[in-house]
Amino acid sequence: PTASYAENHRPQFHFSPPAHWMNDPNGLVYFDGEYHLFYQHNPRASLWGPMHWGHAVSRDLMHWQNLPVAFAPDEDGEAWSGSIVVDESNSSGLGTNGIPPMVALYTAHNRAFQAAGKAQPEQQNLAYSLDRGRTWHKYAGNPVLPNPGDQKNFRDPKVAWHAASHQWVMTLAEGDHTAFYGSPDLKNWHSLSQFGQGLGAHGGVWECPDLFALIVPESGETKWVLLQSLNAGAPNGGSGAQYFVGDFDGTHFTPDSRFAADVRKQGAMWLDWGRDNYAVISWAGVPATDGRRIAIGWMANWDYARQVPTEQWRGAMTVPRTLTLHRLATGYRLFAAPVQELATLHGAPQTLPAHTIDGTLKLDIPPATVSQSDLQLHFDRPTGPVRFGLVFSNARGEELRVGYDGTTGRYFSDRRKAADPAFSPKFAPRIDTAPRTATHQPITLRLLMDAASMELFADSGQTVMTETIFPSERFDRVALFSEGGSVRFKGGTLYPMRGIWPA
Ligand code: FRU
Repeated sequence: PTASYAENHRPQFHFSPPAHWMNDPNGLVYFDGEYHLFYQHNPRASLWGPMHWGHAVSRDLMHWQNLPVAFAPDEDGEAWSGSIVVDESNSSGLGTNGIPPMVALYTAHNRAFQAAGKAQPEQQNLAYSLDRGRTWHKYAGNPVLPNPGDQKNFRDPKVAWHAASHQWVMTLAEGDHTAFYGSPDLKNWHSLSQFGQGLGAHGGVWECPDLFALIVPESGETKWVLLQSLNAGAPNGGSGAQYFVGDFDGTHFTPDSRFAADVRKQGAMWLDWGRDNYAVISWAGVPATDGRRIAIGWMANWDYARQVPTEQWRGAMTVPRTLTLHRLATGYRLFAAPVQELATLHGAPQTLPAHTIDGTLKLDIPPATVSQSDLQLHFDRPTGPVRFGLVFSNARGEELRVGYDGTTGRYFSDRRKAADPAFSPKFAPRIDTAPRTATHQPITLRLLMDAASMELFADSGQTVMTETIFPSERFDRVALFSEGGSVRFKGGTLYPMRGIWPA
């Protein structure tokens, strides 16, 4: 059946599966001109169930071509999350005729094991492709990393080549810590070390880690970033992604001491403070000439992902984001901003003139653009206890408020009236907030609005909040507002966003 992307809540410029359930991004790899996006998928229902890998490819990170399901459950169990690398040197010996194999490492999850109480359900399997990811062969020697027998949570391998120690490194989630394994050939793995017990957020199980190096523009040094999702324990509830900054020497990940001290003080550092960015991982194989670390996350939260009010499909991805690591006066901090390719979807920009906001100021924007736009706005930071921002709404009286609160020094997203709350009491029990850590003027808010999501990149991505919304009709009006005093809106730009799906 051909997918319809016209349903009320269908994202117009975010990836969503043609039909049925999607969760984590998997196997993100760039190869031969294509960005691959695999994902946790139940092709038979819009509910989490027997896990397959769905598959799509893109040449520009924006427009996606849906491909057939790549992995289905087999005698080893379901295909849970994992990653793909291109084995350029054919270290695995799985390539033929000079074609470098694409090698997938993923978690085979066997419910039957668990039910029988015999063994732990998770092990790491390998599959490979010699035709640009179109067909996959299961490796005969699976598992390549068996369960030691006592690891209930033993999953989501993210593999990368570590040039300095001349080995493949697998980063694996093991319940309350991250584990690192090394291999010369992707087939034989040995333990390197573990990280994270007693540090960072531990309100739930650690899942979907990612480890990569970034060059810090302020100092020119190379630092390592460990992304580590967890469910539950996110700052506004449910599932979310924290990160650590430090060094990786081929055996150990050692957090930067000042960063670790801040983590101890603050509990954790968060890549995204909104409720809907989970299992964030980055693309492998992006050419060094490009140099970007591009990541994407599942735009949902396990607190209510199974209940959100869509039927034909369930789940969407964030926009792909470029991650950058900065050395601020306060220490190392990870920023995230939409990839530059997003601008290729911009329609003709509309300038929003400066104005002093005292109360409400309706913006003169075409109704259909409101829920499909890239808004870039600048405000003078108020000195007093002023609360200001944007209010998106529709004729039904539903609304979303996003902005900054001068009393608390925090950004906020209030979606309590942005969906029918009946679908889940966990969706919007309170206003979600995030600290403003930037100190400069002005306050800049960049908002990506789509049918069912709002992504806030404040201060050039220093503070990020990703939040889904499910208004019964799309928001078609937007106003600026202030409470407790006035705020100077210094002007901005609105870009209508073109949709990515064929009509
Ligand atoms: C994270 C996760 C992973 C697991 C997958 C199963 O959302 O729980 O840890 O591999 O989803 O679908």
